[in-house]
Amino acid sequence: MELEGPMKEESNPTSNEASGDAGGGGGFSEGAETVREHPTRRAFFKKALTMLLGAVAALGAIIPAVMVLIDPLRRRQKDTNFVRITTRETLPENGEPRKFTVIKDSTDAWNRYPQKPVGAVYLRRSADKSVEAFNANCPHANCFVAYRSGENFYRCPCHNSSFTLDGSIRNADSPSPRGLDSLEVEIRNQNEVWVKFQNFRAGTPKKIPLS
Ligand code: FES
Repeated sequence: MELEGPMKEESNPTSNEASGDAGGGGGFSEGAETVREHPTRRAFFKKALTMLLGAVAALGAIIPAVMVLIDPLRRRQKDTNFVRITTRETLPENGEPRKFTVIKDSTDAWNRYPQKPVGAVYLRRSADKSVEAFNANCPHANCFVAYRSGENFYRCPCHNSSFTLDGSIRNADSPSPRGLDSLEVEIRNQNEVWVKFQNFRAGTPKKIPLS
């Protein structure tokens, strides 16, 4: 019995040491994993950041290139609104209006229709020799207005609106809520008359372009 006590006492510290070693060994091992883990995470984030910056830089290079490709298409689309109508010499110098059919390519969601009549315009030389253009549609309900030589005004045959040569409403009881719709004109190559042809919503006092 006496021998058992010291042996127990010796064995206890030993077992404590052993368990302490085991614990210490385990602690060292976890610490090593932690030490290894941090550089791995750092490397991952560094790589991710590098890839992100690379992607941003690539986008920065691609977007201007795409805009360069798209821009001519957009400009072409914008240009197609202008239609060559005639030459300036064909317009009477005394300011009488002349009517022209507008023929242009048109498209809908699925089809393209080349050189199709899409409307009509009146052109006239104004006092300062520039060219004025009006859409020939009456703003009341889209009948074509008519000009008779020598009358000095436009008349709508449908409901008797009439308009002065500068496009203003002429008769006080005009059913048309606004004057004729003026259109943008460009003189190109010195004498070609180009008109930005547009239709506008009928029946409203405001001039609202239709797409
Ligand atoms: S459509 Fe011209 S007055 Fe009605």
